[in-house]
Amino acid sequence: MNSDERRARIGEVRRRLAQSGPPRTRDRAADFETVTVPEGECDQLRDLLIAEGVQTVVEVGLAYASSALAIGEALVAVNAPRPRHIIIDPFQERDWSNVGWDLLRSAGLDSIASLVAAPSSIALPQLLTEGLVADAAFVDGSHRFHEVFVDLYFLRKIVRPGGLIVMDDAGAPSVLTAVRYYERNLGWTVVPGAFPGDTLTAVADGRTAPATRCQAMRLPDPPFEPPFEEFHAFWRKSSAAADDDVRAPRRGYSPSRRISENSCRASLQTSWPLSRVWTRQVGSLASRSRTAVKGVPSHPDRYTSSRVLASRRPAASSRIRCR
Ligand SMILES: C[S@@+](CC[C@H](N)C(=O)[O-])C[C@H]1O[C@@H](n2cnc3c(N)ncnc32)[C@H](O)[C@@H]1O
Repeated sequence: MNSDERRARIGEVRRRLAQSGPPRTRDRAADFETVTVPEGECDQLRDLLIAEGVQTVVEVGLAYASSALAIGEALVAVNAPRPRHIIIDPFQERDWSNVGWDLLRSAGLDSIASLVAAPSSIALPQLLTEGLVADAAFVDGSHRFHEVFVDLYFLRKIVRPGGLIVMDDAGAPSVLTAVRYYERNLGWTVVPGAFPGDTLTAVADGRTAPATRCQAMRLPDPPFEPPFEEFHAFWRKSSAAADDDVRAPRRGYSPSRRISENSCRASLQTSWPLSRVWTRQVGSLASRSRTAVKGVPSHPDRYTSSRVLASRRPAASSRIRCR
C-alpha cells in the first residue's frame, strides 16, 4: 500500500469515528463528544504537523484516538523514512477498553505507533533516558496543573529545539497556567494562526467559554536555561489589577543585573559556604529516592532537611550576592 492509499484508509476511519462515534464508550452521557478532540481541530493538528515535516511525535492521552488518528495521518503524509508515534496512556485498557488502540489498528497505524501504558510522569523521563528525540508533541492527558507542568518539563527535553508542543484544552486554567510558566520563563512562543476559530471549551466548574481549544507552542532554538534569579511569575489572578501585578517587573529588579550562571555559582560558593550542606542534603535525598525505587520505602523527611537548611542559611540580603 502506498502513502496515498494508507492515508485514504486512515481518512475513512477518521470520518466514521467523527460521524458515527466509536464502537464503544464509557458509560457516561455524551462521553465521546466531551472527551475527544473535535474533527476540525484534528484536521488543523494534522495540517500543522505535515507543514512541520514531522518524523517522530509523542502524544499524551489516547482515549478515543481522534487526535492520534490525525497525528498518524500526518506521519503517513510526510512519509519520512522512519515515522514514530509514541502514545502514552495508563488507562487505555482499564477505562477505554482499548477502543482508541483498536481504531489505530483498523487504520493500519499500529505499524508506526506504540502505546506506553504508564502515567506520563513515569513514561516521559524513561523516554528521555532512552535518548528519544521528537519533532513535536501533543498533550491531552491528565489536566491537573502539576501533571501538565511535569509533562511539559520533560517534553521540553525530548522535543528538539525549534520543535512544537501542542496543547489541547489550552484555555483550561490548569493547562493555561502550566504553559504560561514556559512561555514567560523559557522562551516558548505561540504559533500564530495554527488553530484558527474558537470552540466552546470547558473553563471551570462545568462552565464553558468560547476559546481557542488547541494551542501550538514553539520551543526556542537554541535552547537555554535561565539563571534562577530571572524568574517571571506566571500565575494569573482573576482581576485585571492582580494580573498587572503579575506582569510588572519586581521592584528593584533589572534585566541588566543578569549574571551568568557560572559567576552566580562562584559567588554562591564564596558567600554561601552552606551551599555545600545543601548539595549534600540533595545528594542524600537522591540516594533515598533511589532506594525507594528498589522497593524499600523511603522516610519522608525532606521537610526536616529544608528546615535544617533554612535555619542555617544566611539572611536573604547576604544570600543574593550574585545579581
Ligand atoms: C481528554 S482524553 C484524550 C482525548 C484524545 N486526545 C482524543 O482525541 O480522543 C485524556 C486521556 O488522558 C489519559 N490520561 C489521564 N491521566 C494520564 C496520565 N497521567 N498520563 C497519560 N495519560 C493520562 C486518559 O486515560 C485519557 O485517555
